Amino acid sequence: FLTRACSPAQQRNLERHLGVAVSDRTPLILEILRARAQSHEGKLQVELARLQYIATRLVRRWTHLERQQGGIGTRGGPGEAQIELDRRMIGDRIKQVKLRLEKVKRQRGTQRRARERSGTYRVSLVGYTNAGKSTLFNALVKARTYAANQLFATLDTTTRSLYLGEAGRSVSLSDTVGFIRDLPHKLVEAFRATLQEAADADLLLHVIDASSPLLHEQQVEVERVLEEIGAESIPQILVYNKLDAIEPGQHPRVLRDELELGAGRRVPRVFVSALTGEGLDVLRQLIAEHAGPIPDTVDDGTVQLLPDGSPAGASRPPADYH
Ligand code: GTP
Repeated sequence: FLTRACSPAQQRNLERHLGVAVSDRTPLILEILRARAQSHEGKLQVELARLQYIATRLVRRWTHLERQQGGIGTRGGPGEAQIELDRRMIGDRIKQVKLRLEKVKRQRGTQRRARERSGTYRVSLVGYTNAGKSTLFNALVKARTYAANQLFATLDTTTRSLYLGEAGRSVSLSDTVGFIRDLPHKLVEAFRATLQEAADADLLLHVIDASSPLLHEQQVEVERVLEEIGAESIPQILVYNKLDAIEPGQHPRVLRDELELGAGRRVPRVFVSALTGEGLDVLRQLIAEHAGPIPDTVDDGTVQLLPDGSPAGASRPPADYH
């Protein structure tokens, strides 16, 4: 695998020089997105990216045949005929997928409204790859999913119910695909669609590897993508993970504070170790504060109001910490 995307021509040249099959990381990322996409739209968007990727690589697959068959004066041959056939089939499939995508996009608003009426409070874990999202997810819901020290360890979709004794209610907790920089251009749409679940959440837990020397760059990159998918205004908790791996001299004085993210936006921050469990009670308390008590919905779907006129169960600003 190459770490950067390469053009079909570059791939062909490399293969010729090295004498082995060469691939950029696109198929790997596509496989990860395919496994993580939960929504219908996400799945279609990934399928579209996969077909488009195959379409660009078709020529290369058959050039060896053409070279074998194409004698003097002949053009084409079975290789070329096969490419045409494959190209047409893939072209048809791309058209079908695009049509279905348009339909699904139109339905999205309706589905979101239905979910809002059901009153489920949705929390999504987002963060740079390897930040510890899956480990934290497991620690919070005490489930056993696979976590490994490698890029994109998570290959299954994960949403579980998380009971918060602090608020006397359950919320749904979803793990999402890890963010990476320099995503191959053609995969951006598929990646965003896979993250659509995050954009529909009521609260985001932005997990950051606090022991990484690149934590600020990674945090900014995640913020940038959240903005791109329209998730920038969703309430967020910054979860600085891997507290156990921070040098003793660098340890924070308090486990819970607030961080100014620019433009006067203050976001609660909590330091935790998903590995040792330190700080997880503080994180649960913060989630409970955001989720509030279960809204008392009546049959017509209206939400009851608290004495101060605010809707019961709505997100509240975090309490003062000091
Ligand atoms: P992707 O699936 O790539 O997005 O990764 P992820 O964010 O889900 O990370 P994952 O939970 O797979 O953890 C990555 C690595 O960090 C694993 O080796 C974990 O054991 C390790 N890790 C996670 N949390 C902690 C922690 O609190 N402390 C330490 N020391 N390591 C941790």
